Formats: sequence, structure tokens, C-alpha cells
Amino acid sequence: MTQTLTLRRPDDWHLHLRDGAMLRAVLPETARHFARAIIMPNLVPPVVTAADAVAYRDRIMAALPDGMAFEPLMTLYLTEHTDPADVRAAAESGLIRAVKLYPAGATTNSHGGVRDMDKVRGVLEVMAELGLPLCIHGEVTTPEVDIFDREAVFIDTVLDPLRRATPGLRVVMEHITTADGVAYARSADDLAATITTHHLVINRNHILVGGIKPHYYCLPVAKREEHRLALRKAATSGDTRFFLGTDSAPHTDALKEHACGCAGCFTATNTMSILAEVFEQDNALDRLEGFTSLHGPAFYRLPVNGDTITLTKGAPVTYPSKIDIGEGHVTVFDPGFPLHWTVK
Ligand code: DOR
Ligand code: ZN
Repeated sequence: MTQTLTLRRPDDWHLHLRDGAMLRAVLPETARHFARAIIMPNLVPPVVTAADAVAYRDRIMAALPDGMAFEPLMTLYLTEHTDPADVRAAAESGLIRAVKLYPAGATTNSHGGVRDMDKVRGVLEVMAELGLPLCIHGEVTTPEVDIFDREAVFIDTVLDPLRRATPGLRVVMEHITTADGVAYARSADDLAATITTHHLVINRNHILVGGIKPHYYCLPVAKREEHRLALRKAATSGDTRFFLGTDSAPHTDALKEHACGCAGCFTATNTMSILAEVFEQDNALDRLEGFTSLHGPAFYRLPVNGDTITLTKGAPVTYPSKIDIGEGHVTVFDPGFPLHWTVK
């Protein structure tokens, strides 16, 4: 008997599309299933001003194959020089849907991020006034702090003080990886958290046991099993504060399989199949639509998509193990278990 599952068309609330040949290769992988995505601004150079966001949005739309529909939801990369008036105009015109805070040095192309929170106070106040979400990469960069503790320490030493100093600021805790992140996201109405596909599947053993697996290395790095289970519980709970942000982050194999490998898992291609499997394993298939299609629009104050996708369950499906980007290949995330759900 075929089982089917129809959902409002999903959105991806955290996505890296890059630029040029990479953009052209990976955009269809997302647009095939997703109507919209929050587009990360960590290009080289980053998307800092409204003018940068217009130009990047135009490059994304130019890369979209004929016959595909997709709406990029643009963001600005917050720097210590960001002009509050530019953010206000970009938000009021509907050009941007969020601003992204990278602590300087936290991850890929984050060196232009923020070192001193006092320098962005004016921007944060405008954002609080407008209700414009701040998407935060929540890790401290202090060398003394163990990489597995960086999220929990960030919550206590940066995020909580930041929110107290800017009442009304709406924050998306991006790609949470810990039970601490889950608990903090639950603590206030102006907070939400995205959860990636891969952090629902892997823990730190997947990266390190039996040989180092560069394609499972991402930031924030996957944590202990107890944290993965806390993320599974949050994602499948039906709590509207939690929604999908894949953080699908393509890097070529040459840069992943390297002495100093780049961080990122590429999940755009098989995310919906993996999520259906995960939610079914947790007896929560009826909550998948909330996670992928309803909770995100509610937090971002955008309408839910009008159309639907249908998944069917059958014999295991396979996906290409790599995407050809012309100047190399990008490895598709391997969940390590068979996938039975496929988008029709
Ligand atoms: O794994 C990651 N990859 N985490 C990030 O925060 C950035 C991203 C990227 O841009 O490659
Ligand atoms: Zn990211």
C-alpha cells in the first residue's frame, strides 16, 4: 500500500546559495521542493548593504532555471559599520526579511562580523522597533572555550545580555545544536530557533569514530547524542518556536577533503526525504508540516505558501551522491539510513 503525505509547500529558513557556478548548480536543488528560503549573506565580499542585497537577489533570480518558482528572502550581514537607516529602508521596502549576526571569526566568511555588540546597538534598536528578526550564529569565538561548549557559553554571555539590552528584539537562534539552545529558545515569545536536517541525524561520533568524516563537519559542530535527542524532541514536538533551517552549505569536495576542511553539510537535495524518515521514526509525521511549512512563516510574519507538495512512501530511494558544479563536485549529505519517502 502506498502511503502519501501532503504538506503545504515548505520553506528553508537558513540556506547558503553562494554565487556564480555554485549558485547555478545548487539553486535548483532547493527550488525543486522549497518555495522560499532565508538566504545567508556570507559571500566574499558579504552582502552588507541594501544595494548588495538587491544585486545578489538579481543574481539568484537570474540563476533560477526556466519553469521553476522560488522566492529568495534576503538578509544583510551585520557589521560594526552597518547604517541603521539602510536597514530600516531595506526592511520597510520588503527587500530584506532579517539581519544576520556572525560573531567575528565564528565560521565561514565571518571575519567581517561583529566584535563589539555596543557598536551595533543602533541597528538592533531599529530592528526591535520594526519587528525585523535578527538571525544569530550563536557561538563564542574565545579560543579558551571548548568548541563543544561554544553555543551554551554564547547563550549565557552574549545572547541573554544582548536581549536584555534591546527589549523587543526578535531573535532566531540559528541551527541550534544543544539541549541548552532548545531550553533557551523556549524561554520567551520573541525567540525562535532553526534546526538543521543534519543535526537531527548525526552526533559527534559520526564525525570522529572510525576515521574522520569531513562531510559531517559543520558549524556549530554536532554535539553528544543527548543533545541530538533534545533537538529531535524539539523539532517533532509541534512547538511553533522550532522550524527548519537546513543550513545547507555547499563546498567542493576539494575544500571539504582537505587538511583544513571547510564547515558545512549539503542537504538541499534530500532534506525532505530525510525529514519524513526522521519524523516517522519519532511517530510525528503529523507534525512535519508545522516544522517545514507553518512555524517559520508565523515567526517571520509571512503568509503560508498556497500550494502543496506530496510525499509518497515506497521502496528505498536513492539520490545522487554528488552534484556536479562544473569546477568540482559537492557531496550530498548521507544520513546513513535508507530513505523511503520521496517528493512526487
Ligand atoms: O557549517 C557551516 N557552514 N556553518 C556555518 O555557520 C557556515 C556555513 C558555510 O557558509 O559554509
Ligand atoms: Zn549557515
